[in-house]
Amino acid sequence: MRDAAAEQLAEYSKNVKTNKQEIGGVLATATGRPIVNKNASVTVGPRGPLLLQDTVLLDEMSHFDRERIPERAVHAKGAGAFGYFEVTDDIRQYTNASVFSAIGKRTSLAVRFSTVGGESGSADTVRDPRGFAVKFYTEDGNWDLVGNNTPIFFIRDGILFPSFIHTQKRNPQTHLKDADMFWDFLSLRPESTHQVSFLFSDRGIPDGYRHMNGYGSHTFKLVNASGDHVYCKFHFKTDQGIQNLLPDDAADVARDDPDYGIRDLFNAISNGQNPSWTLHIQVMTQAQAESLPWNPFDVTKVWPQGDFPLIRVGKMVLDRNPENYFAEVEQLAFNPANMIPGVEASPDKMLQARLFSYGDTQRHRLGPNHLQIPVNCPMNARTWGHYQRDGFMAINGNHGNAPNYFPNSFSGPSPSSNQLHLESTFPASGDVARYSFEFYSS
Ligand code: HEM
Repeated sequence: MRDAAAEQLAEYSKNVKTNKQEIGGVLATATGRPIVNKNASVTVGPRGPLLLQDTVLLDEMSHFDRERIPERAVHAKGAGAFGYFEVTDDIRQYTNASVFSAIGKRTSLAVRFSTVGGESGSADTVRDPRGFAVKFYTEDGNWDLVGNNTPIFFIRDGILFPSFIHTQKRNPQTHLKDADMFWDFLSLRPESTHQVSFLFSDRGIPDGYRHMNGYGSHTFKLVNASGDHVYCKFHFKTDQGIQNLLPDDAADVARDDPDYGIRDLFNAISNGQNPSWTLHIQVMTQAQAESLPWNPFDVTKVWPQGDFPLIRVGKMVLDRNPENYFAEVEQLAFNPANMIPGVEASPDKMLQARLFSYGDTQRHRLGPNHLQIPVNCPMNARTWGHYQRDGFMAINGNHGNAPNYFPNSFSGPSPSSNQLHLESTFPASGDVARYSFEFYSS
């Protein structure tokens, strides 16, 4: 029995409408020159050498030679889908974020689920955390919540992240995954115990991506229309129910269908079984944060739900598969620094380090103008007026003939007069040093 994923080409062929770029149209080079014979290169006689003047061959080959881009440094293997978020409960007392401004309001979004340590061809059913990244296309710009299927993380200071990830990748000599590297690091960093316990529990190998929760993991800050803030954790609870694989079954699946997670998501959405998650938040006041005996900005810790109960916010539904994986999923660029008015960073040190890392790696992985790639554009934003210009692949008209400097007297974009768009004000003081968590955090 062939599933929806296996039927993809037949479906395409059935529904294709001939247009310039599609198979029903006439074959051409990338510059539009029609091609009559694509089965043979130009040669000197039937057995002769090729001619450099075969521009059809050169066009084909030189693009192929550049097809691969760097895979993500982590989370290289993943599946993506699109859908919407719908507000079911009013949380405006906590946040002014436009995405939560009215019950029933829908905001379109993109999601990418992933494993963490494996390369882009690795198996989906390994024991590894799962990435759970959501991009909300709001009218105040894109908001990315880039979390995992766990409410906690292994380490709590970003300065250790590159080393931690090296222990999940390959040994520098053997080029093999190396259990010594993995366990050595973890044994030297006891704060990892909480996440390691989760990973080696029955929830360590989710059954595909639909049957797991997602968490913002870090502590964030919500700011309301009066400028008051609370700290916040985000929880996406799967409406499909939690389902995991036993280790032996996971190994069988890894052998028989390493792309199980991608296939499961694609087929579910194709068949109209649109997966959904219910979003909840936990909130904590500034006074509570200051009086706790533990550090609420430490991503190795959860907030007890007895003290900080879940508050329901809305539902996320995935109802559309990508039409082109590379364009819409491989090029998707999530960045925790992409926030909107009403949602801000907390002092969580891991989160703060991430605010730098993602845009930096994406400028390398996709280029300085990666935000012009359609799937990364703030497509629903009320404004996209800025003064960034040029760089490789400036493909959106580069802001045409508008002024390229600020301030200017010639009708270029000017600052918002809406005070709700200002970041919140907060006090900060202290002696500058490299503080280990052990020094002050229980
Ligand atoms: C300082 C700590 C961290 C650093 C420096 C870091 C760095 C990175 C980098 C460089 C990428 C690749 C991004 C890309 O190429 O588009 C990535 C992806 C990702 N990271 Fe992190 N990361 C950190 C911590 C975390 C934590 C704590 C979480 C979850 C709670 C997380 C979740 C993710 C997810 C889900 C992705 C994949 C996003 C996608 O699907 O494209 N990371 N990270």
